[in-house]
Amino acid sequence: MRVVLGVAGGIAAYKACELLRLLTESGHQVRVIPTASALNFVGAATWAALSGEPVTASPWDDVHEVPHVRLGQEADLVITAPATADLLARAAAGRSDDLLTAVLLTARCPVVFAPAMHTEMWQHPATAANVATLRGRGCLVVEPASGRLTGKDTGPGRLPEPAELFSVAQRVMARGAAGLAPDLAGRSVLVSAGGTREELDPVRYLGNWSSGLQGYALASTAVSRGAEVTLVAANTGLPDPAGAKVISVKSALQMREEMLAAAPLADAIVMAAAVADFRPAVRREQKIKKTGDVPDPIELVENPDIVRDLVAARQRAGQVIVAFGAETGDIMVNGRAKLARKGSDLLVVNPVGNGLAFGTADNEAIVLGADGAEVVLPRGPKEQIADGIWDLVAARLS
Ligand code: C5P
Repeated sequence: MRVVLGVAGGIAAYKACELLRLLTESGHQVRVIPTASALNFVGAATWAALSGEPVTASPWDDVHEVPHVRLGQEADLVITAPATADLLARAAAGRSDDLLTAVLLTARCPVVFAPAMHTEMWQHPATAANVATLRGRGCLVVEPASGRLTGKDTGPGRLPEPAELFSVAQRVMARGAAGLAPDLAGRSVLVSAGGTREELDPVRYLGNWSSGLQGYALASTAVSRGAEVTLVAANTGLPDPAGAKVISVKSALQMREEMLAAAPLADAIVMAAAVADFRPAVRREQKIKKTGDVPDPIELVENPDIVRDLVAARQRAGQVIVAFGAETGDIMVNGRAKLARKGSDLLVVNPVGNGLAFGTADNEAIVLGADGAEVVLPRGPKEQIADGIWDLVAARLS
């Protein structure tokens, strides 16, 4: 696909180099259009070398190619990262005083802005109005991340990590302009992710290989579809998805407590976490010693099933509950039985043993509905699977 990567004049411009690499390495043809200010942070030579394309901030270079019209018309996606307060203001006003803003006016493809600026600038009513204007025109304006800004300040205004912006770009290219519709706006969703750890003693635990990638993809895609997202995350080590409230837990019991506490406010709950079915009956206060050849047997007790407890505790009318299940053998028969056992509205069945493993970027699934629905989500990036799941949830919420 042809991507225009706009870069405005903020210190986060350096992070756009990594975004550019992710885009080019996945086969996209990327034309970088910096603003003149952006070139104070990262020079044209860097953009040209990384993209393999000419780079200029001015509409007056290569005029015979009419770049301000052609680049916008030919693009499949225009993503501006970082988008400064000034760039958002110029885009909202429809100005075309440099090549990037001219391209923004000629583009008819999906347009994404990833703002980055100081918290005061982001929260200023002028910026908020410009963001609302751009969103009203169908552009996707990604929420900035919170955290350390230039200097000692912290707060909302950080550019999300390049990998996250890359996945936003991939999604938008896969789903087209319709995929930008904030169909979960005004909805509150609760997602669990990762794998729980059950402590044996101060240094050991029983755990599993879950990477948390599918749950994080569910959280970040829900954010970009407009939902208010709470992510209960167990032991993932992944960066917080921008715009989501993250609650960290370790064990199944902690996850259960947080999920049940947040559930009454959720319109939809997706249990993507791999929850340990058992935990040690006792957590030793002291490290278990190698006392002889035969180690002490470890007695296990069963953990409560969180999905079933969420179903039993459901208070909110119309709340949609989604469980996951990795299955082998006759996955449809096993999946139907699991769906009935869990009592959830949907079960996302992942076939095990098709070259898809924990920690891989791709996934595939069949979603079974308590209403008899059966939807295949073909193999693809976990964001694509997440979008497929949210499509089914959104249809049930509306
Ligand atoms: O029964 P199984 O572990 O295969 O079910 C998987 C689904 O159930 C997942 O959605 C997982 O998050 C959830 N689960 C749970 N509580 C447990 C075990 C699994 O909510 N104790």
